[in-house]
Amino acid sequence: MARTPGESYIYDQQWEQERARLAGLAAIFDATTIRHLTAAGVAEGRHCWEVGAGTGSIASWLASAVGPGGRVLATDLDTTFLQGLDTAPVEVRRHDVTVDPIEERAFDLVHVRAVVMHVTDRAQVVKRLARALRPGGVLVIEDAVFGGPSTHLWERVTSPPAASGPLNRVMDAVAGGFRAIGADPEYGYDLPADVWAAGLTDVEAEVTHRLLHGGSPESAFYELSLRQLGGRLIEAGLLTQDDAEAVTAVATDPGAHWLSVGLVSVTGRTP
Ligand SMILES: C[S@@+](CC[C@H](N)C(=O)[O-])C[C@H]1O[C@@H](n2cnc3c(N)ncnc32)[C@H](O)[C@@H]1O
Repeated sequence: MARTPGESYIYDQQWEQERARLAGLAAIFDATTIRHLTAAGVAEGRHCWEVGAGTGSIASWLASAVGPGGRVLATDLDTTFLQGLDTAPVEVRRHDVTVDPIEERAFDLVHVRAVVMHVTDRAQVVKRLARALRPGGVLVIEDAVFGGPSTHLWERVTSPPAASGPLNRVMDAVAGGFRAIGADPEYGYDLPADVWAAGLTDVEAEVTHRLLHGGSPESAFYELSLRQLGGRLIEAGLLTQDDAEAVTAVATDPGAHWLSVGLVSVTGRTP
């Protein structure tokens, strides 16, 4: 799973099912994210930056919230899934949040979900995002957390109970794959400290888990993530074929359920 030159993100945006995989993530957490964005005061006329926008589900919501007098900059390393959105008030731009220039003091709101955990210089990226805010602007930064002890605590929720072992081992294997290339599957727990360190105030944090059912729009995220990463994890000795098959069966079984990865949502404001 070594990081090769030019490879800075574990998932392949060119994979034919990547849009569907990211739609699964949106199905799990968009309602949570929208609740936090609404609490942050997104309203007509506001200027927002959606970082690592993926399929653009949140950029679209922001566009309807800010209206024609507002602005939504939607950026990603790969903008393939954002092309249809590139019309006012949305602007789509290819942008690497770790190195490309940022618009300083330009936004009322900066939102980023499930992106910063994937980069190696995480605290620096949080500082860069904070610099893009106007005085009084709000950063809403969210990352998934999984792998290690917390994953094992979720097993009492899992049904059928026999699925908890394979599910734990798959989550640990994916976490190991992240760590092998310098990503951090538990970074969400560092977010409050890094948001404070970026000079923001009024810091709030909330962790959300969802009960997921097999064969649902949400479970597609699990099935497709495993389909994309499984081969590489098995090759790296982090996962067995049996566990991959057991979890694929659970993810597609409408009678199965389990607790999702956590989503840590942190909000901070510029003084
Ligand atoms: C797990 S997906 C999350 C997508 C979306 N934020 C969501 O939550 O639905 C991570 C996204 O971050 C993008 N990404 C990864 N590294 C990035 C970087 N250094 N700069 C900008 N975007 C990046 C990926 O291309 C991908 O679209």
